[in-house]
Amino acid sequence: MSDLEKSPLRSTSPPPYGTTDVEPEVAYHSQGEHITVKEDIFKDDFVGVSFHDIVYVVNTGCCGTKPTEILHSVSGVLPCGVNAIMGPTGSGKTTLLDILAGRKAKANVGGYVLVNGRPQPSNFRCKSGYVVQDDIVMGTLSVKENLMFSAALRLPSSTSWAQRKERVATVIQELGLERCANTKIGTEFFRGVSGGERKRTNIGMELIIEPQVLFLDEPTTGLDAYTAVSVVQLLKRLSEKGDRVIIMSIHQPRYSIFKLFDGLTLLSQGDMVYHGPAQSSLDYFSSIGYVCEERNNPADYFLDVLTKAEKSNVITESDDTDNSTGVTEANNLVNTYQESQQCVEVSEQLQTLADNSHTRRGVRSGGTYATGFLWQLMVVTIRSLLNLLRNPMISFFQVLTMVIFALIVGLIYLRLDEKDVNVRTVVTDRIGAFFFIVMNQVFGNLSAVDVFIKQKALFIHENSSGFYRVSAFYFSKVFVDLIPMRIIPSFTFSVIAYFMIGFQVSAAKFFYFALVICLTSIAAASIAFAISALVRVTGLANLFIAMLFVFQMLFGGLFISLDSLPVWLQWIKYLSLFRYSVEALAHNEIVGQCYCSNNATAAIIEACSGPLCVNGSEFLSGIGYETAPEWLWIDVGGLAAIALVFLLLTYFNLRMLKKSK
Ligand SMILES: Nc1ncnc2c1ncn2[C@@H]1O[C@H](COP(=O)(O)OP(=O)(O)OP(=O)(O)O)[C@@H](O)[C@H]1O
Ligand SMILES: [Mg+2]
Repeated sequence: MSDLEKSPLRSTSPPPYGTTDVEPEVAYHSQGEHITVKEDIFKDDFVGVSFHDIVYVVNTGCCGTKPTEILHSVSGVLPCGVNAIMGPTGSGKTTLLDILAGRKAKANVGGYVLVNGRPQPSNFRCKSGYVVQDDIVMGTLSVKENLMFSAALRLPSSTSWAQRKERVATVIQELGLERCANTKIGTEFFRGVSGGERKRTNIGMELIIEPQVLFLDEPTTGLDAYTAVSVVQLLKRLSEKGDRVIIMSIHQPRYSIFKLFDGLTLLSQGDMVYHGPAQSSLDYFSSIGYVCEERNNPADYFLDVLTKAEKSNVITESDDTDNSTGVTEANNLVNTYQESQQCVEVSEQLQTLADNSHTRRGVRSGGTYATGFLWQLMVVTIRSLLNLLRNPMISFFQVLTMVIFALIVGLIYLRLDEKDVNVRTVVTDRIGAFFFIVMNQVFGNLSAVDVFIKQKALFIHENSSGFYRVSAFYFSKVFVDLIPMRIIPSFTFSVIAYFMIGFQVSAAKFFYFALVICLTSIAAASIAFAISALVRVTGLANLFIAMLFVFQMLFGGLFISLDSLPVWLQWIKYLSLFRYSVEALAHNEIVGQCYCSNNATAAIIEACSGPLCVNGSEFLSGIGYETAPEWLWIDVGGLAAIALVFLLLTYFNLRMLKKSK
C-alpha cells in the first residue's frame, strides 16, 4: 500500500477542487461596484484555509510522458496568523503555495482547498494577495505610483479617487515606505529603492485590497537579516490587525523570525513531516527522538534533520539491503507524523470542515475584475506611456536608427535621376532601393520582440491577480508601441529617404510611399509581437522571427521571378510582406513612367520602345509584379492583412500564456 493510500488524512468524499458554484442570491457585478473583499466567503468568523489530500503531478521526461508526483497527498489547516511552510530546497513549498492560491493548472492537481470552509472560488486568486519570490513591479514608476496603479485597478469602480489615494497613503504608512514613496523602484539601467523597500512595495501592491488571505513566496530571500526580520514583523502585525491568514514559504529563517510564526508546515520531498503550531514543533520533534540543542535555531535544526533524512534516502535507495525494508529515514519521519496525535487532531478538524463544506456552496466574492475594460485600458495605457517616457533611450534609439538607415539609403541612391547610368539601371536601381528600404523597415523592427518578452512576468502576475483583462493589456501595449515606436520613426525615415533619393515630386506619391513604409513597419512589428508572446527567450524569438523574415524575403520577387515559381509554390508569394511592400513601392514610382537615354529622339520617347527606352509597367510585368491600378490598394490590403493576422495571433498567444499558468 502506498503512503498516499495509508494517509489518515484522506477524506471520504471531497468536494471537487476549485468548485465555482455561484449562490443565486449573490449578485455578480462584472464592474465590481459592490465588491468588498470581506463579503460572502470572507465572513467575520474566518476559519482560514484548509487543504485536503493535495496531490500535484507534472509530466516530465523527454516528451512529457512520464508523470511525476511532486506533492503526495498533503493536508492541513492554516488558521489566521502567520503560517510558514518550510523544507529543504525542492521539497514542494512553492508548489503547495501556488495550489493554495489557485495558481496551478487544475488538471494537474488532485484534492481540494477550502477557504473559510467553502470550496475555493474560481476568482480566489484575484481576491487574495500573492507576493512572488522575484519582485514584480514596474521599475520606472515610483513606489507611490506602483501602489496607485494597484489601487486604480483593484479597488471597486465605486471607490472615489480620493478614497484610492487615502488607501495608498495608509498602505505606505503601514509599510513604513514614507521616505521612499516618491523614489522610482529602479531598472537594469538605473538604481532605485533598496531590496527591502522593493519587497515591501510588492507586499503593498497586494495589501491595497486588504486581502484576508495573503500568500508570500520566500519574502525574505535576498534581504539582509535586519530587513528580513522587519518584513516578517510587518506581516505579523498585519495578521494581528484583522482575521488575516498569512501563508508564506520560507527557506532558512533566523530565530527572531521563527519566533513570529504561528503555524508551521514542514515538507520533505513532497510529504508532510510536521503541521501544527510553530511553538509545539520542538516538543513534537523531541517526542520522536530529535532533540534540538539549546541555543540552536529550531528552524536550522529542522532543516538539518530533513536534509540529512533526504540524503539518507538517496543512499538507502541505491542500497539493496536497506531497500528490502522499504523504510528510509525520510519515510520514517513522514510515517511517524501520520501516526502522531498531532496529525489525528488536524485530520479531525479537516473532516469537520469537509463535512460542513457540503452544506456551504462555493461563492464568488464579486467579479473577477474590480473595474471595467475602458478604465483598465486607460490606466494600463497611462502606465505604458509613463514607462516609455521614462525610458526615452528605447524610443530615441528607434528613431535614431531609422534616421541613420534613411541617410544611408539616401546617400547610396542619392538623386538617382542625375546619375550617369544606362537606362536599364535607372529602373533596377529604383527596385534595388525599394528592396533595401523594405529590408531596413522589416529588420529595424526586431526591437518589437522586447515588448511582450520583457513584461511577460509582470503581465502573467498582474493578470492572474485580477488587475486587468488580457485585452486591456494587449491594446495598451500595441497602441503605445505602434505609434511612437513604429509609425513616427517610419514616417521620419520616409521623409528623409524619399527626397534624398529623388523619387517623383508629388504629394500623393509621397504619402502613399509613407503609408506603405509605415504599414510594412507595423506588419513586421506584429510578426515580432506574435512570436514574442509565444516564446519565452529573446534569443529564440529573434531566431524564429529572422527565419520568417528571410523566408518572406525569398518570395519577395527579387531573388526569383514570381512567375517562374512552380505552380504549387505560387501561393507563397501572397504570404510575403516583402512582395506586397516592394510591389506597392515600385508600382507607385515606376508604373506609367518611361525612362529613356539622353540619346533617344522625341519619337522614341513618345513610343517608349526600343533599346534606348524602358517602359516601367512592362519592366515590372516582366519580373512578375502586378501593374493594374487596383493592385496599388490590393498590396496595401495585403500588408494590412498580415499585420491584422499577426496582431490577432499575438492576442491569442497572450490568452494561451494566461491559461498555461
Ligand atoms: N513543472 C514542473 N516540472 C518538473 N518538475 C517540477 C515542476 N514543478 C515543480 N517541479 C519539481 O518539484 C519540486 C518542488 O518544486 P518547488 O518549486 O515547489 O520547490 P521549493 O520547495 O519551492 O524549492 P525552493 O526552496 O528551491 O524554492 C522540485 O524538485 C521541482 O523541480
Ligand atoms: Mg520555492
